[in-house]
Amino acid sequence: TANGLAQTPPMGWNSWNRFACKVDEATIRATADAIASNGMQAAGYRYIVIDDCWHGTRDANGFITEDRARFPGGLKALSDYVHAKGLKFGIYSDAGTKTCGGRPGSQGHEYQDALQYARWGVDYLKYDWCSTGVRNAEEAYALMSDALRASGRAILFSMCEWGNSKPWLWASKIGNMWRTTGDITDKWTGHHGYSWGVTSIADMNEPLWPYAGPGHWNDPDMLEVGNGGMTDTEYRSHFSLWAMMAAPLIAGNDVVAMDAATRAILLNTDVIAVDQDALGIQGHRVWKDGDREVWSKPLSDGGRALLLFNRGDAPATITADWAMLGLPRSVRLQVRDLWTHRELGRRSGRYQAAVPPHGVVMLRLKP
Ligand code: DGJ
Repeated sequence: TANGLAQTPPMGWNSWNRFACKVDEATIRATADAIASNGMQAAGYRYIVIDDCWHGTRDANGFITEDRARFPGGLKALSDYVHAKGLKFGIYSDAGTKTCGGRPGSQGHEYQDALQYARWGVDYLKYDWCSTGVRNAEEAYALMSDALRASGRAILFSMCEWGNSKPWLWASKIGNMWRTTGDITDKWTGHHGYSWGVTSIADMNEPLWPYAGPGHWNDPDMLEVGNGGMTDTEYRSHFSLWAMMAAPLIAGNDVVAMDAATRAILLNTDVIAVDQDALGIQGHRVWKDGDREVWSKPLSDGGRALLLFNRGDAPATITADWAMLGLPRSVRLQVRDLWTHRELGRRSGRYQAAVPPHGVVMLRLKP
């Protein structure tokens, strides 16, 4: 969009996946402290986003207030606290009359809400799609986009209408990212009520790769890494797939109490560099045979990120042929394994590896 933000996919943390409606000021402060000191900020995680349920009521003039029972110091002081650490501050609202959690929505109050967010020092707005009735999505998101611009503050706009109205076709000038699917859940695969497992989300987001680019990204929803429902192998696959798809990397776990394996996944700077590559091209699947897949993402150095992905329950051998990457087989490329962090020498023609069940081998090929 014209706001110039999100030239690479946004990175940060959001309260929803772990805390849902049980979010409060102490949690946000502790999270900001952790991200500033555990290596996440240095690795690029920047936005601390409060999702649903921070809201109080509207005041006599219609301005939105924070829930003072949960946020006793108020959102301005909390925003100042986050900014003092060099981090950015995000919140959540909804294009309908009520948020999904039943708090006041922004419908009919768009300019007033944008002004209030600017006063609080908000840098990022996630804008949900509950209680919208017959509202037209493009109109509703364009209106809030205009209101944010009129606020005079640069506010990243994250659009969350779940892919219902194909936002990839109209949203790139309106917002910086748009959800392409319903909600993610902390499971490997499948459809569970209103939410989907990681591989199902990836399958819905993957074909949309032509629509992503600097400033405007497909959003396959926030990370579940570290929330306990999957194995570390599955979480490495989840993180790798999101990086291959140039997805926003919004951690959704308890970063105050995460274990070493979770930390190693979220802080894998080799994988993050693929996500954050300046070319901003979303990678996609280039080969599939049953449960075995090869994904490729072009990188700004002329090389490729390569993912050998085994969806199956048994170990598999997967071969990536340079032809799948649109490269002559004679080209010699330097291969680096992005999970073992080892240089594997120069290869031509193909690369073959054993891939564990539900696992990946992720490589960077350099010219
Ligand atoms: C639905 C969204 O898709 C979720 O990410 C989350 O924001 C919830 N609403 C909050 O109610």
